[in-house]
Amino acid sequence: MPPLVLVAYASKRGSTAEVAGAVAGELERAGIAAEVIEFGSVVSLDPYEGLVIGAPVYTGKLFGDVASFVRRHEDKIRRIPVAAFVMGIAPVYPKAGDPAQFVGLMTAALQPVTPVAVTVFAGKLDPSTQSFAERSLTKLLKVPVGDFRDWNAIAAWSRQLPDLMGIGKGEGR
Ligand SMILES: Cc1cc2nc3c(=O)[nH]c(=O)nc-3n(C[C@H](O)[C@H](O)[C@H](O)COP(=O)(O)O)c2cc1C
Repeated sequence: MPPLVLVAYASKRGSTAEVAGAVAGELERAGIAAEVIEFGSVVSLDPYEGLVIGAPVYTGKLFGDVASFVRRHEDKIRRIPVAAFVMGIAPVYPKAGDPAQFVGLMTAALQPVTPVAVTVFAGKLDPSTQSFAERSLTKLLKVPVGDFRDWNAIAAWSRQLPDLMGIGKGEGR
């Protein structure tokens, strides 16, 4: 049986969910079984040997309550390797924030767990899926519109995960 990893995400408009799917696809290619679940719907972490968690930034804050997810599953989460990614427009539009600060937000939300890796990926802004208020805000802030997800960067990061998490090949499982 290959090791099983959970890719848990929060996503308001779907772009983080799609990235979670791509991370899982890359893990599967490395011989690891991966499940993708919105983290609010995760019942138990018992089946998993590793966790990847992803969430987008909205107005400077992580969307989705990563901290309460960690609290709810703390016993198990302390015993498995955890990696995380944050989505935002900041990597392509610095006025939207500092990606290093997003790493800090995620790292703080994961406490007391220390992740093996945290990264920030550029996200997607699609005015057709935004509310009027969101569209007004992003227009006002002159935020660029488009899909800035770098699938090669997402795949490259995902490929490092088995080694960073110490699961998969070479683990004798
Ligand atoms: C109303 C709104 C506020 C946002 N605020 C930020 C922000 O403060 N910093 C940032 O880097 N990206 C920001 N973004 C960009 C989102 O993080 C990006 O669109 C992400 O891909 C959305 O993920 P989702 O489709 O999974 O919800 C914002 C987007 C919207 C629509």
